[in-house]
Amino acid sequence: MKTRVIEDAGEYSGQAIEEILTLEQLEARIKELAAEISKDYAGKVPILIGVLNGSVFFLADLARNLDIECEIDFIKVASYHSGTQSSGTVRLIKDISCVVTNRDVIIVEDIIDSGLTARFLKHRILENNPSSLSFATLLLKPECLKLEFKAEYTGFEVGNRFLVGYGLDLDQKFRNLPSIWAFSDNDIID
Ligand code: IMP
Ligand code: MG
Repeated sequence: MKTRVIEDAGEYSGQAIEEILTLEQLEARIKELAAEISKDYAGKVPILIGVLNGSVFFLADLARNLDIECEIDFIKVASYHSGTQSSGTVRLIKDISCVVTNRDVIIVEDIIDSGLTARFLKHRILENNPSSLSFATLLLKPECLKLEFKAEYTGFEVGNRFLVGYGLDLDQKFRNLPSIWAFSDNDIID
């Protein structure tokens, strides 16, 4: 397993991170998810709604591996956290620009942790009467779920550790790491 120590990153300098999912693993799993989605939505033109900012790399790779036509849009929300705990309050920052009424919608998420963001997004989209709604999440932390939630497409289930890379951030940093890394010290965001 690859590990590295963060250098020159202000307050996180000296922190160790280890790679838990390589680019090859991500690419292979995303191809499988794209094949599944292409099969399930054959003959349809779903709208992929990426949840900003974390889902951009996943959405870009997923969409490019689909064999069907699709549209792409984005939504941005903020969830408030105190330390590692989500407060449960989710706020809409940027709404979708497309019309989802009578359309097949797939919400594309980087990670589902408590599930509170996913629940908010689900209600938000369902208000506008889509033909169907499903969730594609690259990562799921099953131990952290605070409510009953099932994503139709899940890349990997991961443990309760703070992750960065491939879109996931810590204070907006590390999103551009090409693969997924975990902080060794899980108290990093307390
Ligand atoms: P939830 O509402 O608790 O499910 O949180 C979902 C959001 O929290 C994700 O879209 C991420 O932005 C963020 N998040 C949760 N876990 C992590 C992590 O390990 N690293 C980075 N961001 C995370
Ligand atoms: Mg996110």
